[in-house]
Amino acid sequence: MDLRLVWSIMSIPSIVLYYVLGLAFCAFFLLLKWNDLRYRRKGVPPGTMGWPIFGETSGFLKQGPDFMKAKKARYGSIFKTHVLGSPTIICMDPDVNKYILLNESKGLVAGYPESMRTILGDKNIAAVHGALHKHIRGSLVSLVGPAAIRDHLLPKTDQFMRSFLHNWAGQTIDIQEKTKQMAFFVSMKQIVEDVPSSFHEEFKAIFDNIVLGTISLPIKIPGTNYYRGLQTREKVIRILKEILAKRRASSATYDDMLDKLVRHEDVKYKLNDEELIDQIITVLNSGYETVSTTTMMAIKYLHDHPKVLQQLRVIFETSRLATIVNGVLRKAITDVELNGVMIPKGWRVYVYTREINYDPFLYPEPFTFNPSRWLEKGLESHNHQMLFGAGIRMCPGKELGIIKISVFLHYFLTKFRWEEMEGNKIVKFPRVEAPNGLNIRVAEY
Ligand code: HEM
Repeated sequence: MDLRLVWSIMSIPSIVLYYVLGLAFCAFFLLLKWNDLRYRRKGVPPGTMGWPIFGETSGFLKQGPDFMKAKKARYGSIFKTHVLGSPTIICMDPDVNKYILLNESKGLVAGYPESMRTILGDKNIAAVHGALHKHIRGSLVSLVGPAAIRDHLLPKTDQFMRSFLHNWAGQTIDIQEKTKQMAFFVSMKQIVEDVPSSFHEEFKAIFDNIVLGTISLPIKIPGTNYYRGLQTREKVIRILKEILAKRRASSATYDDMLDKLVRHEDVKYKLNDEELIDQIITVLNSGYETVSTTTMMAIKYLHDHPKVLQQLRVIFETSRLATIVNGVLRKAITDVELNGVMIPKGWRVYVYTREINYDPFLYPEPFTFNPSRWLEKGLESHNHQMLFGAGIRMCPGKELGIIKISVFLHYFLTKFRWEEMEGNKIVKFPRVEAPNGLNIRVAEY
């Protein structure tokens, strides 16, 4: 037999193998570079865009602040990446961040991920801008702002906290779960007062899927948090529509937000049904984890720093040290040039404010829990302090959030002593939480 023939027959599989390997390598290389090529634009800051669809979401969520630090070390304070389904420019420069928040009209509007818009609703305050934002914000401020706090919300909050904290002495509790219940139930009481407490519990269990769904990749596949979040939105709308219909059919008046919304007490800020439902979801969602996590972390820090228990001005220091909100998101509605870099239309900007909280020039010994630093005049209004945001989207629930946390802490700290159980652990990113609960044993003070 011709040796050459034998050789060529033997080589066919290996040629095919090399061919397949070569193709696989090219496909892998193309996939790796796909996003970088797809989002190549003149003038955009340096950075990498990761894999198609997923971008660098996995590293961003898993490594959190370390991901940011590594990128900053490599590319500087403003860099590009692709996270949560969108090309994004991450900005860690305090002056540029402040400029972005104060200049929404110049092309960078609120730009939360697709998952938030679809799950929290098109008429959710974070999804609208311009005149509609002004209108919805006006309605919200009349519901939760200082006048409403003085007239209705403070007495209600006080009454709720007293009964919520009743009977805790002698129990071992998971303070993470308790502060979540506190934040959700107190909002429910303020929104709709004529539903039983058992409904609050059921509704909280449903609503928790909304919270999880909002921080997820918007891929609609059964089993994902996003899919569950969308399904839950439908369910929540059905439930809220039923409550709304019942309220409309009733001739009684109630001292709650729903009454004000339904009866259009504030005619200037009348909302249609779709806006009204999204407004309720907004109040529930915005005042949920922010309030519960700040309260839980205040209890944690106060436990670890017993001397500070004497000085109860802790809320700002807790928000700073625990960084409850890492930053806020904006989206370019036109090509925007900022500080020498280009932000293409449609891209997001992550105004990352976490690092400012640990700036040793602003806060000496930044990792020390020291509430008395806030006694220093002017620190709250410091130019770079953005714990509650800045500009036209500055948190409208700031005072209400502080009231809820303060009233809870007032009753908790004056009624009880507590000690932490073994095995508690706190993670700080992408959200501050205690994965196994923050278990404490409570006793009468
Ligand atoms: C410790 C508690 C809280 C913290 C740390 C906090 C933080 C923030 C921050 C940083 C923003 C700015 C977002 C942006 O610029 O896109 C914001 C906006 C907002 N907050 Fe809060 N918040 C808290 C409590 C509350 C409460 C209790 C409510 C209840 C109504 C609330 C409702 C809102 C709403 C609706 C917005 C959007 C405003 C807009 O887009 O015009 N927040 N919050």
